[in-house]
Amino acid sequence: MMIKHMLALASLLLGCLAVTGAEASADEEIRQPAARGDHIESLLRQMTLEEKVGQLTQAAGGRSKNLNSKLTAEELDRVRAGRVGSYLHVAGAEPLRELQRVAVEESRLKIPLLFAMDVVHGYRTIFPVPLAITASWDPEQWETTARISAREAASSGLHWTFAPMVDITRDPRWGRVVEGSGEDPYLGSIMAAAQVRGYQGEDLAAADTVMAATKHFGAYGAPTGGRDYGSADISERSLHETYLPPFHAATTAGTGSYMTAFNDIAGRPTTANADLVNGTLRSKWGFDGMIVSDWNAIAELMNHGIATTRSEAGALAISAGVDMDMMSLVYADDLPAAVASNPVLLQHLDNAVRNVLKAKQKLGLFDDPFIYHDTAKEAAMMRAQDHIDAARRVAVRSIVMLKNDHAILPLAGTKRRIAVIGSLATDRQSQLGSWRARGDKAEVISLLDGIKAGASKGTVVHHAAGIDADNPDALKDAVALANDSDIVILVTGEDYDLSGEARSRSDISLPRDQQRLADAILAVDKPVIVALTGGRPLAVPGLAEKADAILMTWFLGNQAGPALADVIFGKAAPGGKLPISFPRATGQVPYSYGEYPSGRPADPDPAKDTNRYSDLPITPLYPFGHGLSYGDIELSNLELGSPTMDGSTPIEISATLTNNGKLAGDETVQLYLRDRHSTIAQPQKILRGFKRLSLKPQEKKTVSFTLTSDQLAFYGPDGKWRSEAGMFDVMVGSSAETIVLTGAFELTETVESEVPAAAIATGVTVQ
Ligand code: BGC
Repeated sequence: MMIKHMLALASLLLGCLAVTGAEASADEEIRQPAARGDHIESLLRQMTLEEKVGQLTQAAGGRSKNLNSKLTAEELDRVRAGRVGSYLHVAGAEPLRELQRVAVEESRLKIPLLFAMDVVHGYRTIFPVPLAITASWDPEQWETTARISAREAASSGLHWTFAPMVDITRDPRWGRVVEGSGEDPYLGSIMAAAQVRGYQGEDLAAADTVMAATKHFGAYGAPTGGRDYGSADISERSLHETYLPPFHAATTAGTGSYMTAFNDIAGRPTTANADLVNGTLRSKWGFDGMIVSDWNAIAELMNHGIATTRSEAGALAISAGVDMDMMSLVYADDLPAAVASNPVLLQHLDNAVRNVLKAKQKLGLFDDPFIYHDTAKEAAMMRAQDHIDAARRVAVRSIVMLKNDHAILPLAGTKRRIAVIGSLATDRQSQLGSWRARGDKAEVISLLDGIKAGASKGTVVHHAAGIDADNPDALKDAVALANDSDIVILVTGEDYDLSGEARSRSDISLPRDQQRLADAILAVDKPVIVALTGGRPLAVPGLAEKADAILMTWFLGNQAGPALADVIFGKAAPGGKLPISFPRATGQVPYSYGEYPSGRPADPDPAKDTNRYSDLPITPLYPFGHGLSYGDIELSNLELGSPTMDGSTPIEISATLTNNGKLAGDETVQLYLRDRHSTIAQPQKILRGFKRLSLKPQEKKTVSFTLTSDQLAFYGPDGKWRSEAGMFDVMVGSSAETIVLTGAFELTETVESEVPAAAIATGVTVQ
């Protein structure tokens, strides 16, 4: 060990001495064809320690709302000195061209910079928030959103987006539930892969693709009490079965990078967790790209209580496999001291530099550092008509119809007086949701404007805010308007600022003023359609009981208004499904449809001691997978290709959908499984297939799923994936609680596998 340390120290010193000699030849070396495999090694040989940590340093070019504002003359000097490898919160083809020019023309080694931003659900054209897009249960919507976002962002000089956010959560108190794909690892995995494909396209070096940073690796979505940044005190089993599969799916889809989570899992912050980062992600899964920390997370290892100095924090993070330091400057300022006292760290440091340079190479930056900086293209690309059209389509498909008594929707074309009530109906800012990149609220069509434009001729639409700090009569006015109308569209829920980072809530019912408004309007004797806005599941039993219809409209982006109008007036059928259960009360969370069975299953009989609440049913208000449509779609004819399966032969499971109604509609057929008996208990249901279909009246379609044995596996106490021989129940339905068709098959042999079962996509065909 001693000798190893000394050798490493000697090579470090030689590396530093070599710098002076290397300077003369640097230009020549750097002009070599950039894509050559040895270019990176050659650069590495020439770099000083300061230049190495410079490559690992990500600085902010501005604040998220004030981009590029920190790019002062002093900052440019840091670039010239090779002390920055990447910037976040920067944008614009022109300013970034200049910044890049300084790096590639005026720094010693001429290494291009990497420009990053949180392009999460749109860049300039803003799409629905991520939870809403996942509610489409249609990976194509995610792929389109990510593709268009990449096109716009790349034309604006960006190379790298901090997306997709794939954190599974079962606790809707957590504010960042809005950024992810909900509670289910299978659905989350399908959506994670779709996003990676969309952002990265076929070729990362193309001028219209960006590198994905799949985040936040670990179990960021399971913070204690739902409080952001809190510890995830979860089992190894739930880590591997529930939280990690979407990350694995992103690896398979080729994500270029990862971001580690702020938080810890049972006391081990992921940013310093070598077993998880270098072990699981790199060695076991074979991920060979770049890993960035979250904002200041390396320095925060001291707050976690696992490092006493910044230097120690840096040593822990670099040894764990975290390549780039976002914003803490620990690598830049304090890692050199750690390396000097423990030269073994130099190997980790060199690997990290390699990973960063390789990412730049994959993006084509050594070949042409300016391909992302074409101002004419930037101007043409922003909010191109096909982007706007797509934003409307994605928004329509994101809407979930929770309730529709007496088929009140769609509203037919007769003349009416419609009262649109609620301040959220005109709140354009909220429709942009959390992370809005360069979205502009002036470019949002509000729900009210959409309804006005979409209403049939002769229909009059009036609005009352109901809540207005400057008008003490606002509520009274709203009630009067409701009384004076034929039908009310009540827009209520959360505004954008109640969900997102650091926006956890202890109570996920309606905010108090919204509840007051809802109570007053629902007491009026008129039909009420609720458009519910929000970035998380909301506990709204009162609305569920009294409203005639409820549309979950989340935050729908630029085309919010037209999309809502399309659904309300029947131009399009709603067909979204909940990607996360809506509880009856906050006290019910965390919650998931896939709980393990109890020895004393819930029984409403209060005389029995069972797994229930004494003051609340245990079922959710609206279950995972729930969502209604127009039309009347029936599921029938479950067929299994065989009563048995083994390790090498997949099984086919098919069902037929028939639209018996008079209107076109959508249904997402869902395939759930249950492993009846095994050596450790299995969830009551796991989702293993879904397909959203549109059916015209009287149309019939048959969907077939192809399952393989590794999709039945669980993570055993020995850390191995295993599908145990035995009987599996098959449940096909339209939500986790609306199972219409059932069957069973037998797995005839026990099979071991390598991959998280939920990360494997089921084959689907439609006839
Ligand atoms: C968030 C990340 C984000 C980063 C950069 C952090 O606070 O947790 O998701 O990518 O900031 O904006």
